[in-house]
Amino acid sequence: MQFPKGFYWGGATAANQFEGAWNVDGRGASVDDHFTGGSYEKPREITIDIKPDVLYPNHDGIDFYHHYEEDIALFAEMGFNMFRMSISWSRIFPNGDDAQPNEAGLAFYDRVFDCCAKHGIEPLVTLSHYEMPYHLVEKYNGWASRELIGFFENYCATVFERYKDKVKFWLTFNEINCGTMDMGAMMETGLIQGFEGPASAIKTTPQQRYQALHHQFVAHGRVVKLAHEKYPQFKMGNMDCFILSYPGTCDPADVLANELEMNRMNWYCSDVQVRGAYPFYAKRFWAENDIELEMAPGDLEDIAAGKVDFYTFSYYMSGTVSTHADHEMTEGNMTFGGKNPYLESTDWGWQIDPMGLRIALNQIYARYQIPLMVVENGMGAYDEVEEDGSIHDPYRIAYLKSHIKAMGEAIADGVDLIAYTWWGPIDLVSAGTGEMRKRYGFIHVDKYDDGTGTYERRRKDSFFAYQKIIKSNGAEG
Ligand code: BG6
Repeated sequence: MQFPKGFYWGGATAANQFEGAWNVDGRGASVDDHFTGGSYEKPREITIDIKPDVLYPNHDGIDFYHHYEEDIALFAEMGFNMFRMSISWSRIFPNGDDAQPNEAGLAFYDRVFDCCAKHGIEPLVTLSHYEMPYHLVEKYNGWASRELIGFFENYCATVFERYKDKVKFWLTFNEINCGTMDMGAMMETGLIQGFEGPASAIKTTPQQRYQALHHQFVAHGRVVKLAHEKYPQFKMGNMDCFILSYPGTCDPADVLANELEMNRMNWYCSDVQVRGAYPFYAKRFWAENDIELEMAPGDLEDIAAGKVDFYTFSYYMSGTVSTHADHEMTEGNMTFGGKNPYLESTDWGWQIDPMGLRIALNQIYARYQIPLMVVENGMGAYDEVEEDGSIHDPYRIAYLKSHIKAMGEAIADGVDLIAYTWWGPIDLVSAGTGEMRKRYGFIHVDKYDDGTGTYERRRKDSFFAYQKIIKSNGAEG
């Protein structure tokens, strides 16, 4: 398997799921700090106030805040030359609408980026990974308000200027397309003003969701424009949750339903962010879903300025779409699709489909013809620590290798793939369920769902497998 010289190998994380230190050094609460723990069976709940007798797993995460040197050294030991992480917006602007940034928060990321540089690791930084300051939810109902555009611009301008010599690769919004769904309201668009209860009870209208997304597109456009004009060394990317779907049967009605689902779920947002305009199918989609977007003069020009330099996506699973009533369903953390009898699933019901990654890469590249990065891919699984402290995770190694093979095939197909960052190279809090026991890491963290644990880090078998793969530039995949 030939991966290009200079290919980026690494891992991906999100501040809210692993930094911890939620109220340390001036940080404000983010939406995630109001989510309780949940499980596969029991949805996470949102509370308006932080309750003293309730466990909020994101508060402590895995305490990267105090372990970053050790963790980045472990990433370097695996051979990473890229580390995807996000900046916690509320560490920089505790309320989101503050006039001045929080210097202690800015200084923390200076330390993290300097540590990456020491190890020769290129940071890939997500500006908003599912965690706006909670104050923006309370006061403005998140991205429902146009005012968020200005707050986001101000935040980005601040971190761009501060880290202009330390960070080159930036992503604006993590999995922006999850904002098209009710569950996205929880983390992506923040449309949960005054809401308390299980995440599964959140109800929003398409009008609210797509209007919020419109504001995000404008914000994205303005920020990309600023980056391109002021910092020519920056490379700007989008980030989509790519859920490849197949028609459930060869019934043309299923094929059409799948086309429309691919447009809705996978293409709508990236067409805007890669091509700089709403896609041709948007008008009909809006009309059929009672969506009437309010646009201000200049919005479409801002969107046009937001064309990204590279496309990035997460890839975990695939689904099927059918118009047939007897079609069986399955689930992801925020997405739901039909079952595929040819595929196995993880313990959380995510259908494992490495060949789908090759298909996805080809589809995306055929559409956009710009460099691609797979910035999340991985498998949540239960791990067991043996008496001698070792952790054997052949299932994770098999998942890793099969997806690397698929990427190699896509590169051989001619796809310009430049990076791969595995989701959760170190165990962290699950976004969907809030669990620790849904582990993705090559590095085990001694932290459990009841809040106990020493935070000790341990190398799993997969740590050494990934190390070998990186050393051979994919050949040992
Ligand atoms: C992606 C998110 O949807 O999937 C991550 O960008 C998330 O934040 C990852 O953690 C895996 O999902 P989960 O629910 O298993 O944590």
